[in-house]
Amino acid sequence: MDIRALKLKTVEDAVAEIKDGMVVGIGTGSTIELLLPRIAELLNTGTHIIGVCTSNKTALLAKELGIKIVDVNDVDYIDVAIDGADEFDADLNLIKGGGGALFREKVIDDLAERFVVIADETKFVDYLGQTFKLPVEVDKFNWMLVAKKITRDTQAQVSRRNVEDIPFVTDNGNYILDVELLPNTDAYAMHEYLIHLTGVLETGYFLDVADRVIIGTQDGVKILDRA
Ligand code: A5P
Repeated sequence: MDIRALKLKTVEDAVAEIKDGMVVGIGTGSTIELLLPRIAELLNTGTHIIGVCTSNKTALLAKELGIKIVDVNDVDYIDVAIDGADEFDADLNLIKGGGGALFREKVIDDLAERFVVIADETKFVDYLGQTFKLPVEVDKFNWMLVAKKITRDTQAQVSRRNVEDIPFVTDNGNYILDVELLPNTDAYAMHEYLIHLTGVLETGYFLDVADRVIIGTQDGVKILDRA
């Protein structure tokens, strides 16, 4: 079975999280893009929601589908946020930011009363960093200084993200550093270290924020809930 088919399996359980009248945080990435048409279908059955998006790309797609989208500053709360992930572990801790949207994802996923992740089973890892580098959003001004400091202090290899040889720029106008985590890295300590470096806006660690992970597997859908 291909990965897209596994991602698609998560969509029905995700849409079941959305109820009439809710403010819904909408994530970024290919899994979310499979969910968006299903949310649009739900609206056609008379369910009303307001969406708050984690990226310009998602906002554009959602608006095209007729989903009402507002700015995050125009809401006081979010009932449920639904988002993808690049890795998740047994404690529901995540690495996100493969699409470069980690800052807005953190704002919206953190603000939500309930945060639900949808992902295929290949994203399940024994430890964060096993298969994916940690994205870190950093200011353009001193990005190389920050990258060198991280390597000096932690021994982790760091690269600036490029797309087709051109530096990737986030919706916030910043660069992404991809940090190759060592196997025994303490995620909490690493996040604390990185977040205090001048120039770092946010890290792709999402620790203790997910309430549920809906996993598309070869054998059907599996659910992991926060204890
Ligand atoms: C976006 O910045 C990411 O956090 C995505 O949520 C993550 O990369 C998952 O993407 P896919 O759904 O495309 O696998």
